[in-house]
Amino acid sequence: MRILSIETSCDETAIALVETSAEPPRGEALRGLPSFSIKKQIIASQIETHRPWGGVVPNLAKREHQENLPKLLVKILRDLLQVQSRGRIDLIAVTVGPGLEPCLWQGIEFAKKIQKENFPKAKIVPTNHLHGHMYSFLLTQHKNNQLPNYSITTSYHKLPNYFPAIQLLVSGGHTILLLMESLAKYRKLGETRDDAAGEAYDKVARMLNLPYPGGPEIEKLAKTGNSNAIPFPRPMLHDKSYDFSFSGLKTAVLYYLKNTAASHKTNLNDIATSFQEATLEVLTAKTLRATKEYGAKSIILSGGVAANSALRRSLQNESKKIGANFLSADKKFQGDNAVMIAVAGYITYQRKKTLPLKANGTLDI
Ligand code: KG4
Ligand code: ZN
Repeated sequence: MRILSIETSCDETAIALVETSAEPPRGEALRGLPSFSIKKQIIASQIETHRPWGGVVPNLAKREHQENLPKLLVKILRDLLQVQSRGRIDLIAVTVGPGLEPCLWQGIEFAKKIQKENFPKAKIVPTNHLHGHMYSFLLTQHKNNQLPNYSITTSYHKLPNYFPAIQLLVSGGHTILLLMESLAKYRKLGETRDDAAGEAYDKVARMLNLPYPGGPEIEKLAKTGNSNAIPFPRPMLHDKSYDFSFSGLKTAVLYYLKNTAASHKTNLNDIATSFQEATLEVLTAKTLRATKEYGAKSIILSGGVAANSALRRSLQNESKKIGANFLSADKKFQGDNAVMIAVAGYITYQRKKTLPLKANGTLDI
């Protein structure tokens, strides 16, 4: 099966061409299950467009998607014509939400157009962006001589060695803790009541006059600061629920900056490190508590913030201590991309869980 996937929910325009292969690759951790090969992915990042504004400007994002999509498709098709069974596409997986609706519509209308004009036999699979992140942990790289790209292995069946699992999905728009009984069966244990973790990173970065997106900038500064320098609060750390809250922490940073206006330039690293420490402590503690409570065999980490090395290290260490697997995609599949949409679209198609082909900005997981 050959899948063309389209992602336009926020500030990345991405198209990927992914194939399922009959034979699962050898030596793979999730051996014996159907596998995918990533033939090609192109991501047109809009970071430079939005950077002067300090965040994503929806109208600019929409315009960029509109301009980028046909260009990316031409590049992808050039490759498609060079591979076997010329031009055949079986599924077109397109993100329908959550995200910025004008941006989502660009992807949806484009999917409809190319189905009509280029691939009339293809089936459009409306795909949930959060499922893309949720299933991204299945993207494990391994060597395959025939393919220049990466291969991934997945299954929509139960994987007894990995489940139940606790998944922490942390992005710019979401902070969700999930209990997964299998790839298909999962439920939300908790989520943020206000800002998402990535949003808090971005907002704090803006207070520190760091460029957008703030997450990687804060992480860079945090490499050399003192994490105990400033005792920022750990919101909801001891709360019984699995919910999160990051807006108080963000405000605490703001007050700290106001109160120490004269000196804060000198300890930017300490502020970044102390903020990161507070955020990661809450994320790690709640994930770990859920893992123990539900006897989970794996901890799964996903979403843009999962690119943060300190967070990865923290969850990896804790997993090791309790003998659980730690599963998380390569960093390049944590931020928004189209490969994860192909994987989620394929699983959605197999499960026959059809979503409406229309933009839904607040689509839940
Ligand atoms: O998943 P994503 O690409 O987009 C959404 O679906 O929201 O996540 C983007 C978020 C941004 O808030 C960005 O600052 C954050 O992920 N992020 C990071 C890092 N890299 C990206 N946060 C902390 N540390 C990082 N290294
Ligand atoms: Zn995302």
